[in-house]
Amino acid sequence: MKILVLNGPNLNMLGRREPQIYGDRSLDDLLAGLRSAFQDRVEISALQFNSEGALIDALQTAWHEGVDGVVFNAGAYTHTSVALHDAIKSIAPIPVIEVHMSNVHARETFRHTSVIAAACRGVIAGFGFDSYRLAIEAVLSCKADIPQ
Ligand code: DQA
Repeated sequence: MKILVLNGPNLNMLGRREPQIYGDRSLDDLLAGLRSAFQDRVEISALQFNSEGALIDALQTAWHEGVDGVVFNAGAYTHTSVALHDAIKSIAPIPVIEVHMSNVHARETFRHTSVIAAACRGVIAGFGFDSYRLAIEAVLSCKADIPQ
């Protein structure tokens, strides 16, 4: 089972960026925790890009490489990017799970809309680093239960 954990803009700044919202641990800490939690079960690759085009390329490459699922925190592009919505649809039936560390629905109104959610298999928000672990569990159960 191969899963790509894909992070969008400003998520390379985890640990120093608004720690009251995102905590004080880094992106490397997040990935180390995920790899240790799923060590034998899942091969986790991880990428982070600040630019929209690079995220689209990463989704298309994931499809070429035959990943089993993508855990995707698109950051602020979640709320704006029709191009990412289309890219997620273009790699169907690979399940893409939208994740957010914060509960976006409890924050500013501009974060309440996701342009990509309708293209994703599901959405997990509000559990900090644990959102990513739950999203990997969701990919594992997609493979087990849901017709593609
Ligand atoms: C975020 C929420 C987004 O609104 C924000 O732009 C981010 C992080 C989250 O993980 O909570 O960059 O996706």
